[in-house]
Amino acid sequence: MRIRDPGIVAKLAEIRVELRQGTALAGLTSLGIGGTTDLLRIKNHKSLPDLLKLLDANHIPHEFLGGGSNLLVGDGELPWVVLQLVRPEPDVVLDGNFAHVDAAADLGRMITFCAKNNLGGMEGLIGVPGTVGGALRMNAGAYGMQIGSYVREVQLYRAAGRKIEVLRGDQISFEYRHTSFAPDDMMLTVILELPSKPFKVILEGIRICNEKRRSSQPLGQKSAGCIFKNPPGASAGRMIDELGLKGLSVGDARVSDRHANFFVNAGHASARDMLTLISDVRERVQKTYGVSLENEVVVWNA
Ligand code: EPU
Repeated sequence: MRIRDPGIVAKLAEIRVELRQGTALAGLTSLGIGGTTDLLRIKNHKSLPDLLKLLDANHIPHEFLGGGSNLLVGDGELPWVVLQLVRPEPDVVLDGNFAHVDAAADLGRMITFCAKNNLGGMEGLIGVPGTVGGALRMNAGAYGMQIGSYVREVQLYRAAGRKIEVLRGDQISFEYRHTSFAPDDMMLTVILELPSKPFKVILEGIRICNEKRRSSQPLGQKSAGCIFKNPPGASAGRMIDELGLKGLSVGDARVSDRHANFFVNAGHASARDMLTLISDVRERVQKTYGVSLENEVVVWNA
């Protein structure tokens, strides 16, 4: 979708929103898949209510993009514009055991920065690509921990009330790869309360998690992490592996040889290839195990 109306373009500049016309989302997602649309980069959170009012008034649909690491975007010209926060400097401010973090902060860099300041707890998420906002929205977790456990406060733009609100941690429910945020809520900042730990101890935890991840996941390849959620008491990766589906391909979309719940873009996969592979694998798992796998990856398909 293209914003061409000069009045809207001028208003965007006035509220300090940068318009990047015709952006290929393939370049902004870890899968390297996705069509083209206008990208609106938000330099100041305070401009969000005005921006959304402007888009609503002109009937311009939109999506919020975080780090693009858990996302499968459709092909071709996309029927909505994409909103993304610009990372401020600094993006993490510490106050005792509290880390005040911008949603656009890189998750791995935030964990390392806190570690250097003797604040731990997040070691399990090292190696997970994406932004803190994305991790928060999905309640990212690994190796027995989840980000939600450390959340004390979230500032967000709530589309329902069309305003910026602050929620306490205990007003949000964090479940397995799911939160009580509405799909059109946009994360802005978060306060995490992290346990004090010596840097050396955190570093050892980080080293162990890195090793586990490196040995079991296809880290150097284009992927969106796990495609399916694990069904209660079972492992999607193990089921897909048991069916002998590692290496199964549709075009360049391929079930990883390293971890069967990671589907990789081995070249120039389209969203259509990846979606076909996802439904094919889901069907085969359903047939054999009677389990309907739920997507973990977020799909924006026109
Ligand atoms: N397994 C196989 N074959 C495979 C993959 C896994 O047999 O191809 C077996 C493993 O040997 C193990 C079991 O399945 O016995 C579980 O595998 P793993 O430890 O890799 O964990 P997972 O359940 O597949 C989950 C998360 C990952 C997270 C890891 C580590 C989900 C869907 N996945 O994977 O998160 O990194 O645990 O905590 O919850 C993600 O969210 O995108 C993600 C990758």
